[in-house]
Amino acid sequence: MPKTTASAPQPGRGLKLQALFPLAVGQVQLQPDPLDLALQLQAIRELQAGADSNPDPGCAWTGDLNGVWQLDRDPRFSALIAGLLGHAWSYLEQLGFDRDRIALHLQRCWPVVSELGQVVGRHHHPNAHLSGVYYLNGDGSGRSGCLRLFTPSALNELVPGLAVGHGGPILNEGPAAAQWNAPWFDLAPRAGLLVLFPAGLEHMVLENRDANDSRFSISFDLVLTSPPCPTPGQQVGEYLAPHPSAWTAVPADRIREKG
Ligand SMILES: [Fe+2]
Repeated sequence: MPKTTASAPQPGRGLKLQALFPLAVGQVQLQPDPLDLALQLQAIRELQAGADSNPDPGCAWTGDLNGVWQLDRDPRFSALIAGLLGHAWSYLEQLGFDRDRIALHLQRCWPVVSELGQVVGRHHHPNAHLSGVYYLNGDGSGRSGCLRLFTPSALNELVPGLAVGHGGPILNEGPAAAQWNAPWFDLAPRAGLLVLFPAGLEHMVLENRDANDSRFSISFDLVLTSPPCPTPGQQVGEYLAPHPSAWTAVPADRIREKG
């Protein structure tokens, strides 16, 4: 009878990493009419009224800080924005939301223009739930300034700070680091591209390095609430805010009188 020997365990064989908890970034490439696009670019220049920064010369001009925050109510943009909001509903449905159990509100919508050398610093939109950006120009190269989305958590880094480089120990040039410890994702603007992402996600716009073109985009913020309540006793979700039509404004002067 042949002598058998138990096979020794082979260290590390068979281990696989499972990716969990994905971040939902929605993208759709639209095909804007060139004439509409030209008119919208011209309209944004008019809305800028000669201003070209925020006001720090290194910071892009953003309409929300310059009184231009309801672009959806401008007839030159209203059809475009309505189309973008249809994709926002699609984003929510793909995320699992029941369209009949929420109301979606456009809170504000503003143009952003970044000139050569300008950026939009790292920030998020804590006032909203879902944010979007639509690019009016860009060729996909990223030279006019990528949208940089920062990782909301870096649990795979194991020891915070290890993935920043400076000689390791994580091999930042390797594919594993890109897959499991990327500190950010850079998304290049392209004319007609719509991007949707959770409003709490930290992001920035990198420097426009295109000496021949300004970078034009439209940003917007959306808020989810309960649907309108037809009867006072109807239930609303605990964590979902009631519909704004059910809110009661509290005048500041009344507070002062009672205080
Ligand atoms: Fe933003």
